[in-house]
Amino acid sequence: MSNLEQTLSIIKPDAVERNLENDIKAIFKKNGFSIIKEKKIQIEKSEAEKFYKTHETKPFYDDLCTYLSSGPILAMVLEKKNAISANRELMGSTNPDDAEEGTIRKKYGISIDKNSVHGSDSMENAKIEINFFFKD
Ligand code: CMP
Repeated sequence: MSNLEQTLSIIKPDAVERNLENDIKAIFKKNGFSIIKEKKIQIEKSEAEKFYKTHETKPFYDDLCTYLSSGPILAMVLEKKNAISANRELMGSTNPDDAEEGTIRKKYGISIDKNSVHGSDSMENAKIEINFFFKD
């Protein structure tokens, strides 16, 4: 049975600002992910609020949405076997201070907000998030 999955990855403003796009894409490719689609954009705060709607009751919601809309981001569809969990493992813990050696957030993350990358956390959210950025 094939468990080839697609997940949404975002290279966040802090990483785009530091020109880390190619380095991070190279890490994905080295770890067996195919980058199926990619789009560099800057979104409005209202769009960030829709994207992070699952977090709307959290105390950090407003800052999070302000931050995601603060500069250009690179949205990508990554494909691999078990892509959703594989990407989460490769990104490391949400807070870079807790992230494991060898993970993207350990290497590049600055803080829990400026943690360089986002990745879908479930199959259901991967579909929603891919559709958010790549509705044809
Ligand atoms: P991300 O994977 O993009 O999903 C939601 C984001 O909220 C998360 O990464 C963090 O950058 C940010 N965030 C800020 N504060 C917190 C917190 N206390 N717990 C979880 N996520 C947080």
